[in-house]
Amino acid sequence: MNNPHFSVRQVSALVVGTGISGLFTALKLAEAGVETLLITKSALDESNSRYAQGGIAAVLPSNPDDSLDLHLQDTIRAGAGLCNEQSARSILAEGYASIEDLLLYGVPFDRNPDNQLALTREAAHSVQRILHAGGDATGHSVEMALIDKVRKNSLIEVMEYAQVVELLLVDGVCQGCRAVDYHKREEVVVYSPHTVLATGGIGRIYSHTTNPAIATGDGIALAAQAGAAIENMEFIQFHPTAFYADGQLHFLVSEALRGEGGLLRDREGQLFARKYHPDGELAPRDIVTRAIYAEMRAAHLPYVYLDITHLPAETIEKRFPTILSSCLKFGVDIRKDWIPVAPAAHYLMGGITVDVEGKTTVPGLYSVGETAYTGLHGANRLASNSLLECVVLARRVARYIGENPQVLIEQVPTVSSGQYGYESQPAMFEALGKLHDLMWQQVGILRSGKGLELALAELETLETQVMVNHWQQVIPVGFELMSQLKVARLIAQAALARCESRGAHTRLDFPESAPALSTDVFAGASIV
Ligand code: SIN
Repeated sequence: MNNPHFSVRQVSALVVGTGISGLFTALKLAEAGVETLLITKSALDESNSRYAQGGIAAVLPSNPDDSLDLHLQDTIRAGAGLCNEQSARSILAEGYASIEDLLLYGVPFDRNPDNQLALTREAAHSVQRILHAGGDATGHSVEMALIDKVRKNSLIEVMEYAQVVELLLVDGVCQGCRAVDYHKREEVVVYSPHTVLATGGIGRIYSHTTNPAIATGDGIALAAQAGAAIENMEFIQFHPTAFYADGQLHFLVSEALRGEGGLLRDREGQLFARKYHPDGELAPRDIVTRAIYAEMRAAHLPYVYLDITHLPAETIEKRFPTILSSCLKFGVDIRKDWIPVAPAAHYLMGGITVDVEGKTTVPGLYSVGETAYTGLHGANRLASNSLLECVVLARRVARYIGENPQVLIEQVPTVSSGQYGYESQPAMFEALGKLHDLMWQQVGILRSGKGLELALAELETLETQVMVNHWQQVIPVGFELMSQLKVARLIAQAALARCESRGAHTRLDFPESAPALSTDVFAGASIV
């Protein structure tokens, strides 16, 4: 495993991850005159946000039906008693300013015939307040606009295919990272007084997910290793509708379809959503997910149907071009066929604890986007609040860093660890498969104390297997396997500690919410 190649860099700021949070942070840092190194473990244009379909929620001053108070009320209602109201208010209040920034960066939001920004509705929003782009390709459209600006910005340097393997700590202060460029097979030590983790979500820990292969939770594992506080890891959002075909789930089918009147049907064609909640298809996401799951289990079927055939064909073609063409590849024409759908892991509501400027509990270390926990989402995220949070936190982190330039405390004399290898083995993929099935079955939509204890024991066995074989030093597969195991353990521990059902966390052995565990007295299952 010896690797003789080694280089050392020093930068003013380091951003890890190139989803919307990472790109936006880098652009805003550059606006503040801060030279930034942007590192991604994949290609610049690969990220979780790129697959976001629905949109970005914001209160537009031109919308007479909406207000900050209403957006806050919807967020808190969906969050099932665990939103941090103060953080939520402060983040939502910057919604329109963030949209203005995105427009300036060239994001082509969809518009009505009168050229006003087009708005749609999603579940648990009381009014239309979701902006979208490319119909159902909002994440992709935002990413492409930001990437174009990043590529043209001389203050931003991009390093692709570099896996960050360790955060550098000096006297408890983060001073950069060690990374492995696995295309060049070279170790890089990057010294930076400011390190921003924007590494996205964790969906790949589950066997059924809407997330791409990069969503392995590396940033959270790195931060935990560095001693940063991590919160609310038990709250995983399972999106109600991922497309089902040929025995597996393939891609997200946006909630915006239900926002535009889409109906859920069982195999006989009967509507069922209102049996579970008066808001039916537009009830909070956790409720719709459990409703679909219950119907699937009762019918012994791996899916239910989503029907949007009430919409005119041309509306579907304009509003949902990505979903239409993706489903057609499987022979499902959503203009006339019902869509087979089932729930899949989608979003992590918890993460690395940050304040409203994105500062973690480790000086010099920041986090933005899905990796971070701000308290906005509580126990169940309101649809399309995530892209908003990415942009607001990115603006704030960049502002803070711009106003607080730091010098490095001291450079740690670093030598090549020479310990990384690159050849993955079939046994690593077997271990990944076991982990993903275990998480889906025991730490998934329905949980129990017994199942969670079993999961923790199995996770320990898998971690031992990794350590004994030194797989964590094999980049990227073995390292990502270890990150996933560490994050899986945080999720299972937090889920075991929370002896109640709340939002997206359902315990069969504790089916009720415990009033005493709402946010006023219990800030989540915190693990430091
Ligand atoms: C969707 O389009 O349904 C996903 C949007 C989100 O996760 O907020």
